[in-house]
Amino acid sequence: MSDVQQAGPKDMRALQSSQLVRNKYENILENLDSGIILFDSEGVLAFVNVQMARLLGVPRTSMAGCTLTQLLRHPGITRFKRKKIIRIFRETVFHRKKNHELVDEYGRSWLITMTYGDQMEGDFLISVKDVSEFKQIEQTAYQNDKLAMLGKISASIAHEIRNPLTSIRGFIQLLRPHLITMGKDEYVRIILMEIDRANDIIYEFLNSSKPSAPQTTMISVLSLLKEVALLTESEALMKGCQIVLHMDEVDETAISVDVKQIKQVILNLVKNALDAMDGDHSHIQGRIEIWASRVEKQVHIRIADNGKGMDHHTLNHLFNPFFTTKEGGTGLGLSVSYRIVRNHGGSIAVESQVGNGTTFMITLPVMDVAQE
Ligand SMILES: Nc1ncnc2c1ncn2[C@@H]1O[C@H](COP(=O)(O)OP(=O)(O)OP(=O)(O)O)[C@@H](O)[C@H]1O
Ligand SMILES: [Mg+2]
Repeated sequence: MSDVQQAGPKDMRALQSSQLVRNKYENILENLDSGIILFDSEGVLAFVNVQMARLLGVPRTSMAGCTLTQLLRHPGITRFKRKKIIRIFRETVFHRKKNHELVDEYGRSWLITMTYGDQMEGDFLISVKDVSEFKQIEQTAYQNDKLAMLGKISASIAHEIRNPLTSIRGFIQLLRPHLITMGKDEYVRIILMEIDRANDIIYEFLNSSKPSAPQTTMISVLSLLKEVALLTESEALMKGCQIVLHMDEVDETAISVDVKQIKQVILNLVKNALDAMDGDHSHIQGRIEIWASRVEKQVHIRIADNGKGMDHHTLNHLFNPFFTTKEGGTGLGLSVSYRIVRNHGGSIAVESQVGNGTTFMITLPVMDVAQE
């Protein structure tokens, strides 16, 4: 009997089908939306998929047979990426960290996972997954939680302050006739006025930190924005800043909103834009442009400034209650605006570049005047 056995038709079929399965797996790996790269036990690249090559910015053919060190020297790898890869490598080797989170130069979040050890028989697998959307959802949930908490705290503080104020007001009124006979009616007037002022402040704060359900009325986008521009005109004038309205695309468009609340939102955004002209940026001729346009069943209001812009850190935190970079700021403006717009079924987005200005975009559901 010979050592070499002839493969029968059954074996051939098994071979073919296992080849097919292999091809399928390879195809899946190649085109996975996560990036995958595998180094063998000698540290030489054994496999890299399409997405990983794209993320690294290096053509796959030029990576064949590279070690990690050679790969790092590849001219396609930017300084930013090189630094991040070295940091991750160090954390993996020295701290045995297997999961890493990374924010790239465009603000996207990535989860990097290392798999090695016994299960990999000496190989080293790195996978990279885009988790930006997940992070966004997490951030929104966290923000909503904080806003809800803020609402509760402010409501209870306001309540605790209001109650004693009401008693003081009552007792002063009881004392009023006596004080008048003592010739102190002016004092009474001032005390009552100050108590009312304190009450108003609490009421305003309560309302702004915890906006109530919108009391909607129909208003044309044009008149709403014109009114806000009018309210900010004097401050803009003082700062030598121009406010330009571009309303051609919305002449007839009306929205059903709580006018006071939406005005507050736009005022907050315009005031922030005006503040962004201060400091190092005050030598530039300030310009705030407000664009309104209609896109199907939505109205888009864009507020663009040429102020100092924001860095990544500010961009990642600006909707958080109490986050502020200003000396006298409360850091409530944007968190409240976010909440109001959300309560109206709309959304708010931002784009910004340090030194080049900021654009906020509010999207609100629209209703035609003709449909009213
Ligand atoms: N148009 C903008 N340009 C540059 N930075 C901005 C702009 N809008 C907001 N920011 C940044 O976002 C932060 C938070 O804004 P937010 O309106 O919530 O609070 P604030 O303006 O600091 O305080 P307040 O609204 O009480 O005056 C600001 O401190 C600022 O750093
Ligand atoms: Mg503000």
